[in-house]
Amino acid sequence: MRVLVTPDYRTLSEEAAALVARAIRAKPDITLGLPTGNTPLGMYEELIRRHRDESLDFSRVQTFNLDEYLGLAPDHPQSYHAYMRDRFFDHVNIAAENTHIPDGSPGRDADAECRRYEDAIRGSGGIDLLIVGIGANGHIAFNEPGSSFESHTRVVTLATQTIENAKRHFPNDANIPTSAITIGIRTILNARRILLLASDPSKAEAVERTLRDPISESVPASALRLHSDVIAILDESARQR
Ligand code: F6R
Repeated sequence: MRVLVTPDYRTLSEEAAALVARAIRAKPDITLGLPTGNTPLGMYEELIRRHRDESLDFSRVQTFNLDEYLGLAPDHPQSYHAYMRDRFFDHVNIAAENTHIPDGSPGRDADAECRRYEDAIRGSGGIDLLIVGIGANGHIAFNEPGSSFESHTRVVTLATQTIENAKRHFPNDANIPTSAITIGIRTILNARRILLLASDPSKAEAVERTLRDPISESVPASALRLHSDVIAILDESARQR
């Protein structure tokens, strides 16, 4: 894993967007794996700026999001569908039919949705560049500690810490999801290239364990060390001191 440490979050976001933009220019019909959460927000803003000011073209780009809460329909304001529309898709020239996010709608057959999603990723030819954040507990996508490195897209129960973190996005603690659909660790490792982003002191310990502890299912992000083309961009705040 190559590690780049930036002085601050803004530089992390610019470096991440520059890497994604270079990949799109090299392969205009690239397939991207995309995260939600706080960490990639600056990267999305910078990609939007590059679309506006530098004609970065998303018209042939395909995307697969990493995860979605179970029990939230795509029009739910706290769904990752809504996040992606508000924070990114509505501001670039990406075709709606080229964007893919697991459907966590209540009443849907979630296991069938997981199989459909994994097949759709495979059917697209696979993910060229997958961007992931990291949880304070070392999770990647919603692969919580203990997840098998051979896991594929599936329904998972969220860790208590993950649910606690999600609370800030759910007004009045209403209907906070406790489970999700996530792509698996094997799905992540199948991507041709992976970009790991980490910012914030709350991530420092997980980052340190990812980079230095023995590779183990107790630190899901450590699986990334099994892949031959991973770049981690951390800012100073996410470095253990
Ligand atoms: C989100 C996802 C999660 C987050 C992680 C970090 O799609 O898969 O693994 O990347 O929980 O979240 P933030 O960036 O909010 O600290």
